[in-house]
Amino acid sequence: MTSKQIRQQYEKYVLPNYSKTGIAFVRGKGSWLWDADGNKYLDFFPGWGVNGLGHCHPKVVSAIRDQAGKLLHVSNNYDHPWQATLAEKISKASFGGLVYFCNSGAEAIESAIKLVRRWGSAEERYEIIAMKNSFHGRTLAAVTATGQDKHHEGFAPLVQGFSHVPFNDLEAVCGTITAKTAAILVEPIQGEGGIHVATSEFMKGLRKLCNERRLLLVLDEVQTGMGRTGKMFCYQHYGIQPDVMTLAKSLGGGVPIGAMVVDKRLNNVLVPGTHATTFGGGPLVTRAGLAVFEAIQKGKLTQRAARMGNYLRKRLEQMAKKYLVIQEIRGKGLMIGVELVQSGKEIVVECLKRRLLINCTQEKVLRLMPALTVTPAEMDQGLEILEGVLATT
Ligand SMILES: Cc1ncc(COP(=O)(O)O)c(C=O)c1O
Repeated sequence: MTSKQIRQQYEKYVLPNYSKTGIAFVRGKGSWLWDADGNKYLDFFPGWGVNGLGHCHPKVVSAIRDQAGKLLHVSNNYDHPWQATLAEKISKASFGGLVYFCNSGAEAIESAIKLVRRWGSAEERYEIIAMKNSFHGRTLAAVTATGQDKHHEGFAPLVQGFSHVPFNDLEAVCGTITAKTAAILVEPIQGEGGIHVATSEFMKGLRKLCNERRLLLVLDEVQTGMGRTGKMFCYQHYGIQPDVMTLAKSLGGGVPIGAMVVDKRLNNVLVPGTHATTFGGGPLVTRAGLAVFEAIQKGKLTQRAARMGNYLRKRLEQMAKKYLVIQEIRGKGLMIGVELVQSGKEIVVECLKRRLLINCTQEKVLRLMPALTVTPAEMDQGLEILEGVLATT
């Protein structure tokens, strides 16, 4: 089937809730994708952050192949060897917490919201302070937590108990705390919101505030996690620890998995019967997650993300001197935003024509999140295409 034929079938049978490019992909390897018509693309935004190791990483593929022949699913009333092994990896690589597995980022956020509410329920504390311009997913509570009106439109009434304050504004957070406040929810780097990085003072201040006011600090690392920013988890840049952390996207190397990591002292909040999901932490996805961890740790990919990210940033800063269309470059590691003085939509379309996949968020921010495995040659190739497009803008 050609991309066009595939598109026609979508139009007949698939709900049209995504904006589409008309391209159908049939194969991926590392930073490369092939479409149904045989064209090859360089992917600098693999799977919206899912394919952190690139497409079809051999370790992930072979783990999935092996696991598929052994055991695909058992209910969470039974144990299997891979869920707790992945939980141990996550716990030891982060803050020694306990892990709950689910299937997506939004579901991890839902889980965190439920944990916060149950934790605060004895004192009737349930309010969560989230950030303006944030993004936490599309389920009803996650979208309510998301601090952008455009994502709320048409979904009223939203869930109660959320307020939104400007990102990086500690005073605003302080001024919003009430007797009902239970937690603060924040992305260390706002991804969909346009790659805005939390300042050190803000993150340290939030930790202090949470300690002083007995609030839970919930960090959404769905996009920033798993080595992308140059540390396994982005909070590790700040010398603080959260009480709750959410993960998803690149944790599974391409398979759907989400996780909530919870400080050990909160181990008795979600007792049996309070929270669950049928597929969460199944053998196939946790085996894939273990392969992701092994690839990151053995391949020293966090250090690589920092190194390649520095290179990417340096090259972009050189471009910023040449092309006035670039206003600002932000980010950490391989999570980079290029804010433009104009809409970035046409630039994304033109890059796609030249077979480079990038993203634009918040109208003006080009989002570049190459795989942690991207090679220097691939990086140069992608930057050359981007520069070619910027030169004609
Ligand atoms: C920070 C953050 N949290 C939550 C989500 C929602 O994840 P999912 O799309 O897997 O539900 C996203 C998705 O982009 C995200 O970037």
